[in-house]
This record gives sequence, C-alpha cells and structure tokens, in this order.
Amino acid sequence: MKVNDVVSYDVDGSIAVITVNSPPVNALSNAVRQGVAGAIQTAMGDAGVDAVVLICEGRTFFAGADITEFGKPPVEPTLRNLQLIVENTTKPVVAAIHGTALGGGLELALVAHYRIAVPSAKCGLPEVNLGLLPGAGGTQRLPRIVGIPKALDLITAGTPVSAKAAKEMGLLDELATEGNLRADAIALAQRVLDEGRPLSKVRDRSEKLDEARGKPEIFADFRKANARKFRGFNAPESIIRCIEATLEMRFEDGMTFERQLFNELQADSQSAAQRHVFFAERQAAKVDGIPADTAILPIAKVGVIGAGTMGGGIAMNFANAGIPVTLVETSEEALNRGLGIIRKNYETTASKGKMRMEDVDGRMALFTPSVSLSDLADCDLIIEAVFEQIDVKRDVFGKLDAIAKPGAILATNTSYLDIDDIAAATGRPQDVLGLHFFSPANVMKLLEVVRTKDSRPEIVATAMKLAKTIGKIGVLVGNGFGFVGNRILAARNTQADQLVLEGATPWAVDKVLYDFGFAMGHFQMRDLVGLDVGWNREKTASANVREILNEMGRHGQKSRGGYYDYDENRKQTPSPIAMQVIEDFAAKQGIARRDVSDREIHDRILFAMVNEGARILDEGIASRASDVDIVWITGYGWPKYRGGPMFWADLQGLPVVLDRLKALQAAHGDAFAPSALIERLVAQDKGFKDA
Ligand code: 3HC
Ligand code: NAI
Repeated sequence: MKVNDVVSYDVDGSIAVITVNSPPVNALSNAVRQGVAGAIQTAMGDAGVDAVVLICEGRTFFAGADITEFGKPPVEPTLRNLQLIVENTTKPVVAAIHGTALGGGLELALVAHYRIAVPSAKCGLPEVNLGLLPGAGGTQRLPRIVGIPKALDLITAGTPVSAKAAKEMGLLDELATEGNLRADAIALAQRVLDEGRPLSKVRDRSEKLDEARGKPEIFADFRKANARKFRGFNAPESIIRCIEATLEMRFEDGMTFERQLFNELQADSQSAAQRHVFFAERQAAKVDGIPADTAILPIAKVGVIGAGTMGGGIAMNFANAGIPVTLVETSEEALNRGLGIIRKNYETTASKGKMRMEDVDGRMALFTPSVSLSDLADCDLIIEAVFEQIDVKRDVFGKLDAIAKPGAILATNTSYLDIDDIAAATGRPQDVLGLHFFSPANVMKLLEVVRTKDSRPEIVATAMKLAKTIGKIGVLVGNGFGFVGNRILAARNTQADQLVLEGATPWAVDKVLYDFGFAMGHFQMRDLVGLDVGWNREKTASANVREILNEMGRHGQKSRGGYYDYDENRKQTPSPIAMQVIEDFAAKQGIARRDVSDREIHDRILFAMVNEGARILDEGIASRASDVDIVWITGYGWPKYRGGPMFWADLQGLPVVLDRLKALQAAHGDAFAPSALIERLVAQDKGFKDA
C-alpha cells in the first residue's frame, strides 16, 4: 500500500514493513517524514500488527536531513516530532540499515527500539562537516549507547564507522546477512515479540554514562589532543559541550541545550560556508558542455614519466586504485631513488595501521620500472612529470607521439607552462590535456584537469571520472598561466613579496594568514615546498629575495634555512639572516621601509586573491566561482569554514570588496584594478554565486 509518493506500507505476518524510496539518498525530506509518520500511525491502529520494520530502498538508508530544506520554514512533522512518534510507539520498531545511516538518518535509527544492519552498511554523524552538530538528539543518545569517549570521536570526526565496528560498540543490536536485510529484520522483530523483549529506549539508558562520571579529564584531554585539528572551527566545541551535557543534565534538558547550540551553528556563517563547500564539491564533478553520453575511455594501464617529487606520488594514486603503472626515468639510479621513496611511503602507511605490511609488496608489484619511453606503448594514459622546462617537455611529448598507442591520453603535470605549446609537439593535440596534481600528490585531494583548445570531450570526461576513481576532487579548468590555483597563488606571492619589502616581516604576514585559518603562513609554505622549486641555478641573478636566499644555499626546510631557520627537529624560528637579506634588498631597490599593519597585510593579500579569482572567472579559465573555491580549499589549505575566496567575498558583499579594491588601487597601484566582473556584478546587485 502506498502511503505517499515516497513511502509504502505492507504487512508480513504480524510485522508491518514501512519502506521508503526517495532517490537519490532517502534524505529526510518533508514528504519522507510525513509518509513515515503516517505509516507508523497506520501500524499502531492495525490490530493485526505487533511490530514494525523501518527500511529503505535504493542505494542507502536515510542519508540525513534534507540539506536543501535548511533555512526554510519547518514543516510538520519535524524530524524531532517524528522521532517522538517512533520512540513512543507501543509496538517495537526495528530500523533496518543498508548503505549509509548518516546524520538525521542515524538519529532516527537511534529512536527505534532495535537496530540491524548489513555488514557493508556504515553509520555516522557527519554534521560536523557541514559546520553543524547532530540536531535531532544525536549528541544526547549516542553517548548513552556507545559511551562518552567513542561518541566524542565519532561526532567530532564525522567519519562513518563500519557496521561491524558499530555492532562492537553497541550501536547496532545485530548484523544481517548481506542481501537479506528485510527478512532478517522481520525475523529480529519476531524474536523481540517471541521473547517478550522490552521497548528499549536509548534515552533511558545510563550505564555507559556512569562509566564517565567523575572523570572530567576525558573532556579536557580530548580538547587538548585535538586543539590543532579543531582550530578555527566552531562546531567541534559545541559538540563537546553537548556531550558534556549528557552527564550534567536530564535527557530533556540536554535535548533543549542541543537544539539551542544547533540553532546557533545553523545561523553561523561557518555552516553556510561548509554547506556551500559540500554542494560545490559535487558541482565541480559536473562538466558543462560535454554530453552525458560521452564515451569514457577504459584506463587499464598508466604510464608516468619522471619519478621525482611529483611523479612518484602521482604513480601511487593509480597503484592504490589497483591500476598498474609503468614508471619511466632517465637512469636506473633515479628510478631506484623514486621507487625507494614510494616503498617507504607504503611502509609508513602500514606502520600506522592504515594498510597491512604484507600488502606492501603486492602494491609495489603494480609498478613496472623502466628507463625507456618505448615501454609506454601499451598505456591508456601517460602522465608526464619531468622538469618544468618547455623544451624538455616538448621533447618528451614529441617522442611520445611516436610511441603511444592511438587514442591514448597524453597528460602533463606542468604547473605553469602552456599546454597548447606542449601539445603542438605531437601530431595529436586532441589527445593532450593537463592533469595538475598537488604536492604531496598521493595525499592532496585536488586534481586540476586542464582542457586545451583541442582536447577532445572523451579525454576530458574520462579524466574527470578518473579523478573520482583515484579519490581526487577533479576540477575542470582552462589552459592559462598557472590555471586556477597557481595563478591565484601568484597574486598572493606578488603581494607577500611586496609587503615584506615595504616593511612587514615574513612572520607577520604568516601570522595574519594563520589567524585567518590557513594551516600555515605564506613563507612557511614556501620554505616547506622548497625555495628552489622553479629556481634556475644557471640563470639566477640576485633579482629578488628568493633568488638571493637560494644563491646562499637557503632552499627552505630541506637545507634547514629559508625565510626561517630550522633546528634538527624542523622547529622554526624567524631568521635574522633572511631579514637582513630583505632589508638590504629593499634598500637596493630604494624602498623606504615603514610600519605595515596587520589589516593592510590581510586586505592586500586576500583582496588581491579574490580579484584574481574574478579575472580567472571572467576569462573562462574557471567555469564557476564555486570551482575556484574548491581549488583553494582542497589544494592550498584555504580554511573550509570560510568557504573559499569567492564565497568569502560574497559574504563581505561585493560592493564592500569593490570599494576596498579601489582604495587599494589608489594606494598601491593597478595590481588592485578591480576585475570587470566585480564591477558588472555590483552594478547588477549580484554576487559571485550568480556569476
Ligand atoms: N540532503 C539533500 N541532498 C543530499 C543529501 C542530503 N542530506 N545527501 C546527498 N544529497 C544529494 C547530493 O547533493 C547529490 O545530489 P546531485 O546528484 O543532485 O548532485 C546526491 O544526493 C548524491 O550524493 P553523492 O553524489 O554525494 O552520492 P554518493 O553515493 O557519493 O554519497 C552520501 C552518498 C554518502 C550519502 C553522501 O551524499 C553524503 O555524505 N551526504 C551527506 C550526508 C550528511 O551530511 N548528512 C547529514 C545531514 S545534516 C543532518 O542530518 C542534521 C540532523 O542532525 C538534524
Ligand atoms: P623533480 O625534479 O622532483 O622530478 C623530475 C623528475 O623527472 C626527475 O627525477 C628527473 O630525473 C625526471 N626526468 C627529467 N627528464 C626526464 C625524461 N626526459 N624522461 C624521464 N624522466 C625525466 O620535479 P617535480 O617537483 O616532481 O616536478 C615535476 C613536474 O611537476 C614539473 O612540471 C612541476 O612544475 C610539476 N609540479 C610540481 C609540483 C611540486 O610541488 N613540486 C606541484 C605540481 C606540479
């Protein structure tokens, strides 16, 4: 029997089965909540029914509240009212879980009297990733069933746990047989009836809470251990306070407290930013202008040229996805060095328990080392990661043209070079694109997929799909200097360099960016990456501070000195030597140093980045403002809770941004000339979100 478009009701013996089918992820929309409430009422009024199973069709159990309904007026029954209906039934309710029981979905399962899941299911409260806390009793019920320490971990991390782990910690009562959930759930309901088991309510349980009473250090230690991870984010602290409340307040008061803190977070710009990021990530995967039925090319074998900093990490991504990789270098020595680093990386992963030591050899067996490009003849995709020099890259692509099989995708990992120019070294520019990975390439989530004027749709669609296969977030960008990410970085570089010449210290610049929420400051990042990346030993001419530091052998962390000095534990201190270099160079340039305020550092750096982002958008190098945000969040550590540079600018209001740019232009020159896009959007009373 259909209750409404998304919920149906049938009876098996004396067990009512409420089935929800609301694609794609059974989010708890108005229709879903109304349908489930109606079905529960039917079951209660049905004299032939003794118990209820709540189950979903499609790929998953409820994936949470419907995020698209956030900020809209509440519609009855609210999730909390639906929970009251379920929790207070007079007939036991069994939640039958497959796929992912997330957020409000798991909170609904927590008011069922019993929970069963298939082994492949996952359970989690991911609200923290949206800048929220579980607002439907998750912070009050989960500690009562799994204990305080586990609840702290689970809710502040937001990462789902496997059904097996959930069963072990008491969150689930039983595991079902894969593929047999409905029957096993009905059987559990029947057993509950046969054995006369009580209507067990999580809210009434206290034994797990009692274990933590009188131990305030649990919370203090947890805050301390995670201080770095939580820095800047508001949601984790609110979550901790709610979990503390389980020990201090009655259940109902804890629920009121949770609601209050949830409302505060929901109204906060951090949550708006993090929700923006959630949808922006999914939007990035969608490519405008490429038909949905575009053929995806099979990628069964990959070639990587160059086993240096980037090539090794790039190759690991494919091996991790089970795809064999042929790795080409110029000498056996370079190959061995590259492979040695890869093996060491895997061994470190294994020593942290994240993979099994006995699997390291198997993973290494996926690599075929070679010193000959001709060994790439059978590869479906070849990625070049050799030195950043156009003649070297063109030489490699010219040779590849004669070796690669017809239709193979030829990709370059260049940071700044013109990919059309590289493609022109082949007779098949339609098969060439950029795959711009970020360092460390086996870790960083971002992959800029660079489309040239000739790249054919199939290779673009395949690259975007491949990004997901290897666990990256692919963002499609156009072929222009530095693409999206590095071009904005270049704008930041210019301001940061200029600021230190005019009178700021590198550490003052770094502190402003750190306080804004970046994981590290600008000069700290340079020292970490290496000041010699892109530096040419032959052509260096003491033309800027960076060249001079390199000439002095100060290449950054790896040589224990760059802008900072580093001790044997890589602990940094501001370097008086670097400061002297800066002061001398400024004097040589005739720049009179002055006091530079933190506000000036903040505005010059961040507004220059926003302005560059706007230009990139206007030129079509990025197709959406949200793509620019994703690039900077996933590739460069822009704080997620500020939503990316374009979202951040919209939050200030573009008229404010425009005024500030004009003032900066008057004071510091045309680097701040406002992008035409900003002018147009302000005139139309719009934001980047409408661009
Ligand atoms: N509300 C609305 N839409 C949602 C949604 C949700 N909670 N979760 C996913 N979607 C949408 C996505 O936007 C996407 O839409 P699109 O196809 O139009 O782009 C579609 O569902 C499929 O999502 P994915 O592409 O992410 O599919 P996957 O299979 O890769 O992943 C998932 C599925 C694991 C469920 C993943 O979507 C996910 O993690 N969703 C978010 C879950 C979440 O954060 N839940 C908590 C919500 S807040 C809450 O419950 C508050 C409560 O405490 C009161
Ligand atoms: P690297 O110097 O660490 O490695 C380059 C490797 O290529 C060396 O091992 C070298 O022996 C090898 N090589 C040179 N010519 C070759 C040839 N003809 N055939 C086979 N191998 C050859 O350089 P890195 O840092 O890995 O950079 C590689 C590319 O990745 C560059 O284009 C760079 O701009 C880009 N890139 C670098 C990033 C970084 O943070 N290092 C980030 C993103 C892109």
